[in-house]
Amino acid sequence: MERIKLASNVFFATLFTAAFLFTLSSGLKEKQTCINDKSCDSGSQCGTCTGNVSVPPRCIRVQPHSPVRKVRGLPFNRYSWLTTHNAFARMGHKSDTGSVLLAPVNQQDSITAQLNNGVRGLMLDMYEFENDIWLCHSFHGKCYNYTAFQPAINVLKEVEEFLEANPTEIITIFIEDYVTSQSGLTKIFKASGLGKFWFPVARMPSNGSNWPTLDSMIQQNQRLVVFTSKSSKEASEGIAYIWRYVVENQYGTDGMKNGSCPSRAESAAMNSKTRSLVLLNHFPDTPDFIEACKQNSAPLITMMNTCHDAAGKRWPNFIAVDFYKRSDGGGAPAAVDFANGHLVCGCNNIDSCRAKMTFGDCDPRESSPAPAPTTSVSSASNSASASAAAKEGGEGYKKSFANSDCEQIELEWLVTTALIELNKCMELDEALQCMQLSRVISTSLLPHRKPHGENGD
Ligand SMILES: *[C@@H]1O[C@H](CO)[C@@H](O)[C@H](O)[C@H]1NC(C)=O
Ligand SMILES: *[C@@H]1O[C@H](CO)[C@@H](O)[C@H](O)[C@H]1NC(C)=O
Ligand SMILES: *[C@@H]1O[C@H](CO)[C@@H](O)[C@H](O)[C@H]1NC(C)=O
Ligand SMILES: *[C@@H]1O[C@H](CO)[C@@H](O)[C@H](O)[C@H]1NC(C)=O
Repeated sequence: MERIKLASNVFFATLFTAAFLFTLSSGLKEKQTCINDKSCDSGSQCGTCTGNVSVPPRCIRVQPHSPVRKVRGLPFNRYSWLTTHNAFARMGHKSDTGSVLLAPVNQQDSITAQLNNGVRGLMLDMYEFENDIWLCHSFHGKCYNYTAFQPAINVLKEVEEFLEANPTEIITIFIEDYVTSQSGLTKIFKASGLGKFWFPVARMPSNGSNWPTLDSMIQQNQRLVVFTSKSSKEASEGIAYIWRYVVENQYGTDGMKNGSCPSRAESAAMNSKTRSLVLLNHFPDTPDFIEACKQNSAPLITMMNTCHDAAGKRWPNFIAVDFYKRSDGGGAPAAVDFANGHLVCGCNNIDSCRAKMTFGDCDPRESSPAPAPTTSVSSASNSASASAAAKEGGEGYKKSFANSDCEQIELEWLVTTALIELNKCMELDEALQCMQLSRVISTSLLPHRKPHGENGD
């Protein structure tokens, strides 16, 4: 094991030294072979999808190009924003309860890091838990220590700090809302300091007409757009009920079938023009670190084109993915640039847009819209724990957890995942973690186990 690692390190060291001599290692463009993150253009990282040591890493885009710096005078619905599915479910995160986490992870970095990379839409699942509101995944509609990530206010404070430091940026939060207490959400938004950035429901067009312009949102400092999945909160707390304003395609694996773009069940039809915002979901039922590399590449562009047709020739305002930094080159950030190009100025890339230009008067040399994958992606070796678990996880796991919208993580799935984790921690000889884990399994999981097929509530 160690020897293989060493051999591959020597191999790369040689390769990189050679590359270094030729390129002097800075400002490498997307998809060029790289040495480390610093050798790539800003907004890119050095990485590889394959886990194949003979395929050297390349510069991979992790940031879209900001449309705000180009053209601000258009309505909010004329822009596209990179959006992270389950933005809070971060790899390597331990539950703030101190428990081991038995929940899938969807992203690699913190909310602050995501925002610094240009993520502007955050999908957050909020639950009542421990006399507070937590970001969590559920099991029978409830949050448990081993599915709870952290109190929601922590993340809201990160958003507040970012908005404070970046006075022309706008952020949208999509809450999958399980909070029942009166004004529960309002309280944490106020406590986080985000109240002052609140974009009021009264300014949202509910009949499909244009939103206020970015300029106007920035000038009035109403730079936080929040949607909830609970309809009653629009009247009671002034939090916009998402399905009055947004259409979405089907999320999860069913939404990723090539050539079709069905609407999500809760959403008005994709082509319904009485909703002015369009959100593209593009992630599988079970988050998969390895596959995300492929899924965020050419298939995302293909699906964006398919959904454009399904949405009555509208490009997505939000592009929601897992592991937004993973791709074989341009990835989700390039998809956002493409959508922004079309929405803002009728070109294939936001880079072609200029203030006051005629719509569609694009540079004839503009690059083609669909970046073709340069390397084939194998689902080999260096897997992250989440996807390793996913792959080995058997039926229970695959049956799934679908997406956040699924109200319950199936117990079978949890038990399977827990047993896999237990196995792993025993191999790693992490006594404390193993003990915690076996306690969770024996005290919390097994007693709830029912004959196959039943599902509690
Ligand atoms: C690794 O990449 C090399 C060069 O592209 C290729 O020949 C080889 O088949 C790949 N190996 C695997 C396991 O995919
Ligand atoms: C859950 O976590 C809390 C701390 O947030 C702790 O007080 C409690 O004992 C934990 N419950 C279990 C069952 O481990
Ligand atoms: C939509 O509502 C706005 C005001 O909220 C109004 O100005 C506009 O005419 C309405 N458009 C349609 C198509 O009803
Ligand atoms: C998906 O469909 C498009 C055209 O509809 C086609 O060009 C592409 O090859 C298909 N991709 C896969 C993976 O089947």
